[in-house]
Amino acid sequence: MAEGYTDTPERGGHGQAGHVPVLLKEAIDFLAVRRGGSYIDATVGLGGHSYEIAKRLGAPGHLIGLDKDPAALEIARQRLVLGRRPMVIGQNQEHDWPQITLIHGSFANLASRERRGTNDGILADLGVSSLQFGDPARGFSFQAEGPLDMRMDPQAELTAEQVVNHFDERELADVIYEFGEERRSRRIARAIVRSRPIRTTAHLADVISAAARPMKHERIHPATRTFQALRIFVNRELDDLRALLEAAPQVLKPGGRLVIISFHSLEDRIVKDAFREGVKQGHYRLLTKKPVTPAEEEIDRNPRSRSAKLRAAERV
Ligand SMILES: C[S@@+](CC[C@H](N)C(=O)[O-])C[C@H]1O[C@@H](n2cnc3c(N)ncnc32)[C@H](O)[C@@H]1O
Repeated sequence: MAEGYTDTPERGGHGQAGHVPVLLKEAIDFLAVRRGGSYIDATVGLGGHSYEIAKRLGAPGHLIGLDKDPAALEIARQRLVLGRRPMVIGQNQEHDWPQITLIHGSFANLASRERRGTNDGILADLGVSSLQFGDPARGFSFQAEGPLDMRMDPQAELTAEQVVNHFDERELADVIYEFGEERRSRRIARAIVRSRPIRTTAHLADVISAAARPMKHERIHPATRTFQALRIFVNRELDDLRALLEAAPQVLKPGGRLVIISFHSLEDRIVKDAFREGVKQGHYRLLTKKPVTPAEEEIDRNPRSRSAKLRAAERV
């Protein structure tokens, strides 16, 4: 870990919830955090990126952290608000900590929540946290038995269980194809419909594995794409991302930075297109011509970072 970056307590500190922030140094460098500024961490999660932003903001600054998941927000609150004593070697920053506002909600509503042109930077580190993925009760992983939930926000209405058991075969195949880029979507949807009711992640993974055997050249589990599709659909992830990208140029100050870390090609395509359109409209100057990806050393240390891509732009 680079000097000046706190070795986060999440590293193993919360057991299975251990979450290592991805592309931490790169994200903070591209945000170019200005002391005393106002920044939004749109996906505060367990506060790993936020902590580094807060350290650089100092007492005159303001950090707004959003998350759909109240459990993540609670951990972030303990870290950023209650246990804010930085564990960094160096000066005592006890009295040099910014105002922190943590909000339960989606970053899709940023435009209605924030005043125009008031923010120096926005960071979004998309997808699920290890807290969510590592808890079988949340239903995100096919590697552990759990209910088919997959909601980032437990107050949201739609669960994966409802999609799996109540969508008709065609709708289900469309979801799996569109959000999982799964070529065998029809075969998988047919098998799901025939095996209903399906209540658990393990049962669903078995049904998919039996319907779509692993292809020779594929190293991923046959259920990977279907689980990704259900998660994206249940959480409206792509719609939320589009809304965030639409709101960002309105809420950023001139010179403000937008940094997005995505984890699969559907997300990255949306970010790339929005940035390109933003440049055309005269909103942005691109800071990353090509996406920034983690160094091998980071991937070895944190396999979750494997597919991460960071893009950054500056409001002009
Ligand atoms: C990869 S984690 C972020 C980890 C964080 N950067 C850290 O260092 O701890 C992504 C977080 O974003 C949240 N999230 C995903 N989509 C969201 C949305 N539309 N609005 C708000 N939060 C969202 C998830 O609940 C999850 O906690």
